[in-house]
Amino acid sequence: MRYGEGLLEEIRRRTDLVQLVGRRVKLIRKGRVMWGCCPFHAEKSPSFKVENERHAYKCFGCGAGGDAFKWLVETEGLSFPEAVEKLAGEAGVELPKWSPDDEAREQKKKSLYEIVDLAAQFYEAQLRENAGQEARNYLKRRGLDGAAAKQFRLGYAPASGQALIEFLKTKNVTQDDMVAAGLARPADENRGLRDFFFNRVMFAIADGRGRVIAFGGRALEEDAKPKYINSGENSLFSKGFNLYNFATARAAAIKAGTVLVAEGYMDVIALVRGGFAHAVAPLGTALTSDQLQLLWKTAPEPILAFDGDAAGQKAALRAAHLALPQLKAGYSLRFAFLPAGEDPDSYLAKSGPQAMRVLLDAALPLSEVLWRAETEGRDFSTPERRAGLERTLTGLTAQIGDAKVADYYRRDFDQKIFDSFKRRVQQPRQDRGPAYRGQPFRGKNQGPFRPQPGTAEAVSPAVKASLLARAGQAGQAREGALALKEVELAGLLLEKPALALSQGEKLAELVFRDPSLDRLRHELLNLAASGSSLEKAPVLNHFMRLGMAELLARLGATSKPGAPIPESMPEDETEARFLRAAADFRAMAEGEPERDRALRRFAAEGSEEAWHEARRLLRSSHE
Ligand code: UTP
Ligand code: MN
Repeated sequence: MRYGEGLLEEIRRRTDLVQLVGRRVKLIRKGRVMWGCCPFHAEKSPSFKVENERHAYKCFGCGAGGDAFKWLVETEGLSFPEAVEKLAGEAGVELPKWSPDDEAREQKKKSLYEIVDLAAQFYEAQLRENAGQEARNYLKRRGLDGAAAKQFRLGYAPASGQALIEFLKTKNVTQDDMVAAGLARPADENRGLRDFFFNRVMFAIADGRGRVIAFGGRALEEDAKPKYINSGENSLFSKGFNLYNFATARAAAIKAGTVLVAEGYMDVIALVRGGFAHAVAPLGTALTSDQLQLLWKTAPEPILAFDGDAAGQKAALRAAHLALPQLKAGYSLRFAFLPAGEDPDSYLAKSGPQAMRVLLDAALPLSEVLWRAETEGRDFSTPERRAGLERTLTGLTAQIGDAKVADYYRRDFDQKIFDSFKRRVQQPRQDRGPAYRGQPFRGKNQGPFRPQPGTAEAVSPAVKASLLARAGQAGQAREGALALKEVELAGLLLEKPALALSQGEKLAELVFRDPSLDRLRHELLNLAASGSSLEKAPVLNHFMRLGMAELLARLGATSKPGAPIPESMPEDETEARFLRAAADFRAMAEGEPERDRALRRFAAEGSEEAWHEARRLLRSSHE
């Protein structure tokens, strides 16, 4: 396109669209929006709106819509550049002069694509020639045959250092163009013009439209340095904006619902040949923001595959941190970790596509990767350390640009802290030796390679509902009593939040039925785990800030939302009452048949494990 988006934006911003459209359509103001009868279809009541703030018009009747340029194109029959010139003139925006030189440059850019493609053809042909024998052997050793070479436009750059230049000369390509296309290194005082790549296996890199724009070249010897060289930045190729195999993977990604990101050329080729056509790789750099945006245009949750070794973990974390500020609702990343020392290429060769699929299915969510990086193998046995962890996690969520996503991360991390604390307090004290300290924060699925347990999606909602109803009838009376008891317990906890410390182990085991009460319980345990002060007033304020004012009022902790906090009762009495109520609650809850409890757990978690347990107990109760 002749004009850059920045310039077009400037013109849009300076154009009074309401006034422009108003020349043809009678508009009436409603708030910030102007409405009129759509000029693109016949209508009597206005469904056509124009907004200066959005620089856009839109018809809800026929769907016509666009910006000021489109308006002129559609209503005055101007070409796009004419519309730009006209509006730029009216808005007083100066357009860059479009000279014959520019025209020539544009033309030349087109021919650079042709030159690079000529080079690709040359390298491909060389791979088939005598000169390419060694390269062919190399590829064969790595499991790649002629069909693979054809599919990926693999090639061979001859060793002489002049071969491509000689070939391009016969095609009337100038030396300047060879350099501009990244195919030759310019002459300097020591040497003349020479091929950029020599004696390497060549990987053709295409842009999003499938046009070859650059190359990666791999040395034939295992220990050669550098192992790969890639085309330098030029007017066709910017490595941070492109991904290897992107054009082909994009279509496959839509079908697969995701896109896979490996580290290298060989990995992508192995993945595609293993049936994972939706594989791409960055080009000799760590993933960039621009590449992330490209990936998100393709799929909401790209899966990044990393070596399971320390370097791979580090690279994964770098990608995770890159993504944080750019996260938005519905878009994230997942991380698949291969066994240490493996990349997708070697793993596929060793274990096959089925194993690869299992591993990709088990890819971890971004939040889990961050959590593990901060906690795995560390000891959080002191309040100070837990507070430190909380601060680190808060720092991470603060990097998330999207408020809603940040909020969910906060909750997710809270839940994780809570779960870890619960496990810790359930652990008998004498077990807390050095071995325990070794891996205190491992989750249910220890290590990066355990698949996540599936959810029991196979159970239809109707079956689920009827099972729950059966459990419900049996337990209704008991439920009523339990509900009262848990309200009493929650009230006592608010009266004396420090109970979460002194009675933490008990509290962690009491699961409340009412989700809002259980959240309260959970937040209290979090506070205790993080080493916060458990004074009544700050705790109540904390809950207010968490939006729990109504609950507090319901429990009588405050007379109404926002009202001052009433006087406390004697501490010993509170504790004694809490212990009695907790004992009652447990006795009642344990009176519940095991089966009902399993069903309820299934209803709450939806986990496969809970479902199997409930079913097992149901079966045995029928026998
Ligand atoms: P790796 O060293 O992991 O390569 O680099 P690989 O794909 O496993 O290579 P093989 O299997 O030994 O052939 C991953 C990617 O990093 C870039 C390349 O894009 C490579 O595919 N790289 C690596 C370079 O640009 N230069 C190098 O010297 C090495
Ligand atoms: Mn490799």
